[in-house]
Amino acid sequence: MVPSRMPQPELIIVSNRGPLSFAHDDSGALVPTRGGGGLVTSLGPAVAEVGGTWIASAITDADREAAAQGVVEAQGFRLRSLVVEPDAYRLFYDVVANATLWFLHHNLMDLARRPRIDRRWREAWEGYRAVNAAFAEAVVEEAGDSATVLVHDYHLSLLGAALAEKRPDLATAHFHHTPFVEPTGLRVLPDDVATELLDGLAGHRACGFHSARWAAGFEASARSVLDRVPPTFVAPATVDADEVTRAKESPDAAQRLAALDAAVGDRMVIARVDRIELSKNILRGFHAYDELLATRPEWRERVVFVARVYPSREGLAEYLAYRQEVEALVDVINDRWGRPGWAPILLDTADDFPGSLAVLRRYDVLLVNPVRDGLNLVASEGAVANERDGVLVLSSEAGSWAELGPFAVGINPFDVSGTAEALDEALSMDRAARAGQAAALRQAVCRRTPRDWLDEQVRAAHTAPPAR
Ligand code: F6P
Repeated sequence: MVPSRMPQPELIIVSNRGPLSFAHDDSGALVPTRGGGGLVTSLGPAVAEVGGTWIASAITDADREAAAQGVVEAQGFRLRSLVVEPDAYRLFYDVVANATLWFLHHNLMDLARRPRIDRRWREAWEGYRAVNAAFAEAVVEEAGDSATVLVHDYHLSLLGAALAEKRPDLATAHFHHTPFVEPTGLRVLPDDVATELLDGLAGHRACGFHSARWAAGFEASARSVLDRVPPTFVAPATVDADEVTRAKESPDAAQRLAALDAAVGDRMVIARVDRIELSKNILRGFHAYDELLATRPEWRERVVFVARVYPSREGLAEYLAYRQEVEALVDVINDRWGRPGWAPILLDTADDFPGSLAVLRRYDVLLVNPVRDGLNLVASEGAVANERDGVLVLSSEAGSWAELGPFAVGINPFDVSGTAEALDEALSMDRAARAGQAAALRQAVCRRTPRDWLDEQVRAAHTAPPAR
């Protein structure tokens, strides 16, 4: 059901990565560009439409320079950037948010080695607390009476409790873009840290998730640590179909598509578009393709795997090592199966949005196989951008599975042979079945808009019973 429009009280969005990032142009002037990442893609247009203040970290040197000028208004956003000294920011972002909480929420912690809760980690935890406190202070300063405050993601887990204490007039909600760790995983954290984390979130009027599974994980963890269950809501993000259509028709995207067409010719295309993130399961995706070529020789030279995967969080050793493994595996598979005039895998690691859109327009099969993922917007962007009735092969562990699974070929992301079979099934599907499935998938994606998603969060912040 499409919800009715919420009347918009003053709106404050709070997230680590903001909607704008800054760079110097040739004359040395600071210029804002639209920030990257799923959060901004899905939330940005709706916030720009209704208006509001976005509070976010100044991440680069240019961001910090821009922050010194105070609140910046550009591209429909009113941005207040928070400056954290770079070493303190690294402790907050790399050590706690990304190397600890992100891994816990994705069940990816290598428990034989990590986390090591030592003095350095404790220092980083103090940094995490300090950055969260600085964000809370900024909200207190910016927010007018009874404003709506929507806090996003695992970087800012402690704001709810601070705001409940300092500004009980505010209607606040927290939205997690990741899955949420279950009680067994949470036991890795010292009791005081787990309690502060859950208390921080429980201070909001409601906590939101992309999928009911992640909400259930949070509820179970809150029950085990706090002995109570704070209000939750489930509201999957979606893409702005008009925006995707406009962007895919841009001259840049058309030029990338022409280059791609020249490279792949009339071969079938299996595609993936992802950040090089450990949750994305890029290695098993390539192993499955390798098995497809080994067990179904009829596909050799008739298909190309186009992988646009671009670097992410290179401050973490695990991410750098994963990237090297991905590149090495591509070389192995291309050496094993390649023939003159046919490279089985075309790998591109440039972070180039028009290039990604070109791949999404052209695929016959889109592989989205994360081991665990909060949502996965690529599946939705693909459904809107694709022009060949492409088939989605989707992991049951993606948050988008609940909504899009019925219109995809489903896989267990750990099952490499099963994924090879799914690729074969998708490549072999007849024209009528492909067209029917692609249309149904597009319809499912377009049922709700980013503005609906924003309204659902605002409604949750206002209507859930106060948890204070
Ligand atoms: O992996 C997805 C995700 O963790 C989102 O939950 C989050 O919004 C985003 O990545 C953060 O990315 P970054 O570290 O680049 O700001």
